[in-house]
Amino acid sequence: MAMFIVFVWVVFFLCILTTALLKWNEVKYKRNGLPPGTMGWPVLGETTEFLKQGPAFMKNQRSRYGSFFRSHLLGCPTIVSMDAELNRYILVNEAKGLVPGYPQSMLDILGKCNIAAVHGSAHKYMRGALLGLINPTMIRDNLLPKIDEFMRSHVSNWDNKIIDIQEKTKEMAFLSSLRQIAGPESGSISEAFMPEFFKLVLGTLSLPINLPNTNYRRGFQARQNIVSLLRNLIEDRRRASSQEKQEPDMLYLLMKGGTEGKYKLSDNEIIDLIITILYSGYETISTTSMMAVKYLHDHPKVLEELRKEHVSIRARKKPEDPLTYEDFKSMSFTRAVIFETSRLATIVNGVLRKTTKDMEINGYIIPEGWKIYVYTREINYDPQIYPDPLAFNPWRWLDKSTENQHYFLIFGGGTRQCPGKELGVAEISTFLHYFLTSYRWEEVGGDKLMKFPRVEAPNGLHIKVSSH
Ligand code: HEM
Repeated sequence: MAMFIVFVWVVFFLCILTTALLKWNEVKYKRNGLPPGTMGWPVLGETTEFLKQGPAFMKNQRSRYGSFFRSHLLGCPTIVSMDAELNRYILVNEAKGLVPGYPQSMLDILGKCNIAAVHGSAHKYMRGALLGLINPTMIRDNLLPKIDEFMRSHVSNWDNKIIDIQEKTKEMAFLSSLRQIAGPESGSISEAFMPEFFKLVLGTLSLPINLPNTNYRRGFQARQNIVSLLRNLIEDRRRASSQEKQEPDMLYLLMKGGTEGKYKLSDNEIIDLIITILYSGYETISTTSMMAVKYLHDHPKVLEELRKEHVSIRARKKPEDPLTYEDFKSMSFTRAVIFETSRLATIVNGVLRKTTKDMEINGYIIPEGWKIYVYTREINYDPQIYPDPLAFNPWRWLDKSTENQHYFLIFGGGTRQCPGKELGVAEISTFLHYFLTSYRWEEVGGDKLMKFPRVEAPNGLHIKVSSH
């Protein structure tokens, strides 16, 4: 009997404790005018449920509280917006105080002049400097020849091999960017640069705990190594007498202030912009390329149609001829495959903003410093927008207007819309061109693919490649 009474008391105590803990965050963050929702546990909030249940967590909360609700995710009070119109409003209103809200670890490691860390006129200036390097004219005259040469050589010796296409597309995204940034010198620095860059990426995705052996500490050290590599490269170039190159690379143009000398950046700004370019195109391009290979393998009709497009481009050329900008522009089915891959795999789940003051949005008052998660994933599976949304159907993108709809947020929207969209599409298209015209492939099988919180194959995605 005594044991039973103790047991009842323990259960009773645990119930009280759980209720008190769950109330803790509700009381701590209680304000008038907040959207509906729950704040979860102290410190953790609802992060564990979010990471464990993934998209189901968001759908569940939306069914209870509507498309604009409050939560506590990844250490911060957060408003989740799943409403297409509100998402648009949030993305176009940076000037009203809705600035990027990426985690501290990311900002620390990517640098103070990183594009996500600067706002207002400083952002306009950095973005202008970047657009000067990657606009369509630069892609045509300067970048595409480098991308072409790189992709051709990157896929050149895969015949009769089993390769991990995840690893290869990661290397590809990094090395192709480095080639565009540092020209021929990229060859001599890539061996030291690449492992540091991979550590830097891991660091940005970790909790900002500065202790030995944490990914954050390793990422921060990797940043310092990368900064010193780039500083040496800048100094070497300053020392070298022949600055005028035949074929200018991004670093050359940045040191010159852009093609027209309009954007004078300090060395620190140049370094952070280079890290931004490497970082922003890395996971997006590599994962989209890997998933395109996966979907093409699983959908032979799409593969056949895509291969037809590339074989007919090659048929007009000699084997050693590079792809031209006109070839790239003619790849309409390839473009459709890339968009359909980004949509179906949801390479980017959403983007983060934070409020710089108390703000009224959608009739609610969002307190200063709260994060806003513009969660775009569900738009990708909306049957009203994409009929039969779970089918891999690139043909739906052949109507150009699909790409120009305002709910299309695969590349973000508003003031921060991806400036690297065309460059990214050009890189993936060139990769697909050389891969498809050279090889057939089969999956080895048994590899796991995770779709959330990031799209990745935890043990790699292995394929057996053979030439036609
Ligand atoms: C398939 C490829 C790509 C996808 C899906 C993609 C996606 C995105 C998205 C969703 C955003 C919006 C972020 C936000 O609003 O906070 C963005 C911004 C950005 N992207 Fe991309 N991106 C891709 C390729 C690239 C490439 C190749 C570059 C190389 C320069 C790049 C550079 C950037 C930069 C610098 C920003 C921030 C712009 C700003 O803050 O003004 N992206 N990208």
